[in-house]
Amino acid sequence: MRRCVYPGSFDPPTLGHLELIERGAPLFDELIVAVLRNPAKKNAFSVERRADMLRRMTAHLPNVRVETFSGLLADYAELTGACAVLRGLRSESDLAAELPMAQLNRMLNPRAETLMMITSPEVSHISSSAVREIASFGGDISALVPECLAAEIAAGLKKE
Ligand code: PNS
Repeated sequence: MRRCVYPGSFDPPTLGHLELIERGAPLFDELIVAVLRNPAKKNAFSVERRADMLRRMTAHLPNVRVETFSGLLADYAELTGACAVLRGLRSESDLAAELPMAQLNRMLNPRAETLMMITSPEVSHISSSAVREIASFGGDISALVPECLAAEIAAGLKKE
């Protein structure tokens, strides 16, 4: 079975993430969307809530599984027997950040190739941090996140 891991924080999941999942899933037998458990980082949504949101927005994709992981991505890829790690590239600055990560992950686990997929122009301006900022001020995020999650994400991020 050819398995790929798509790791991330997904805080919250966006239409950019969904695009990558929808384009990546047909390339493999199974795509595992892996949400990082990072107690050191203060996230807007709990890891369970993010995994639940990802499960709902990918319910139409039969070969997509959503899991959580902690520790090194290279170890998680080994544990799952993944032959690939998928990451999205929106810009040159994404590339600058992704390059060393891919090299380090390859050093730690040469059995998993990092594959970088260039996001489409329709979603390349979208980031979880922009969603958090816009929603925190009550702005409209409906064009940035999956429709089935928009109200929940907006309510979760709006400042009192
Ligand atoms: O969505 P993000 O925040 O860009 O995802 C970053 C992520 C989760 C892929 C990265 O932080 C990660 O893999 N963390 C796990 C720890 C690890 O393996 N670190 C070494 C990478 S060089």
